[in-house]
Amino acid sequence: MMQNEFRNHAAVTALIRGGEPGDSVRPLRWRADALELLDQRLLPAEVRWISLTTAGQVAQAIRDMAVRGAPAIGIAAAYGVVLAARQAWGEAGKDWRRAIEPELTRLCAARPTAANLHWAVQRMQQQFGTMDGDPVAALSASATQIHAEDIAANRRMGELGAALLDGSDVLTHCNAGSLATGGYGTALGVVRSGHVAGRISNVYIGETRPWLQGARLTTWELIQDGIPVTLIADSAAASLLREGCVRWIIVGADRIAANGDVANKIGTYGLAVLARHHGAKFMVVAPVSTFDLSTDTGAGIPIEERNGDELRGSNAKIQVPEAAQIRNPVFDVTPAELVDFLVTENGVLKAPDRAGIRGLLGGA
Ligand code: MRU
Repeated sequence: MMQNEFRNHAAVTALIRGGEPGDSVRPLRWRADALELLDQRLLPAEVRWISLTTAGQVAQAIRDMAVRGAPAIGIAAAYGVVLAARQAWGEAGKDWRRAIEPELTRLCAARPTAANLHWAVQRMQQQFGTMDGDPVAALSASATQIHAEDIAANRRMGELGAALLDGSDVLTHCNAGSLATGGYGTALGVVRSGHVAGRISNVYIGETRPWLQGARLTTWELIQDGIPVTLIADSAAASLLREGCVRWIIVGADRIAANGDVANKIGTYGLAVLARHHGAKFMVVAPVSTFDLSTDTGAGIPIEERNGDELRGSNAKIQVPEAAQIRNPVFDVTPAELVDFLVTENGVLKAPDRAGIRGLLGGA
């Protein structure tokens, strides 16, 4: 979708609503007075929408992972800003910009690694200066635009990434799909486009312990769209790659530093090492909103550590001795030199480096 198409209300509405063959899943919807989220903690056992009416509820839902995936939490936060503005306007009138500050801080702090969260809140804040009177309608339009642009970027990245594929098997990790974005997905956008173009034989997905984004979410999402998917244990990836059928590993990103280092779901780095060792290609698919040029290298990316109870396995009923200590870093950093292709809506970078990234982002 080109920039001027965002002025076409019907096209934006259709993009956001989804429901087309091959693109049926959406993780969030905006209802004028509420943000509705497809609760990802319950999938695939239960398809339940929850309705949030305050920015505090949105921050909590991001922290608790009712909504997850870097672009999706950015979009949820943008709608959270609208809810915060509605409350601030009601309580403080024309002083709403000051009243809203604590809510913006809370939204930004909900999860530390995804660049899209700050990016979206900042982009909403940039609109504040030009507003007169009740800000809700204008901010709601801005959040909707962020939402629609994300899906359009995913469609574009899907085409660009799929064009690189060669008909082999692919392996993906976590869930970088419709559920993790406004819709269509980043890595799974490439899978969707590649499937339609006949450029993929099999899609493998690792379980993605401990939260099981691969086992629970990616399987469910691809099955909704009729794309066959094969689940493997995370630890089966090495021998699968040695068999030689998987020629591509395709993943998303939570934050990409200025030098091209990529933070993504824990286990991504190991897959990049495996790809290089076995001569498979490693593709990272991420919109411009995931880049953080103010972070020089991956060493500066904050890595979220979540509660060890996620590993104790309340979901999977794994018993871990109470005395065992647990560390649960949920992201890792893949050095740029292990990335073969970086796919964005602005184009594809082969063997990404600083200069290439600056060029792609227009010197941003
Ligand atoms: O902890 P999560 O489930 O939010 O982690 C999500 C990922 O790591 C995704 O790969 C990343 O956000 C890219 S989503 C398009």
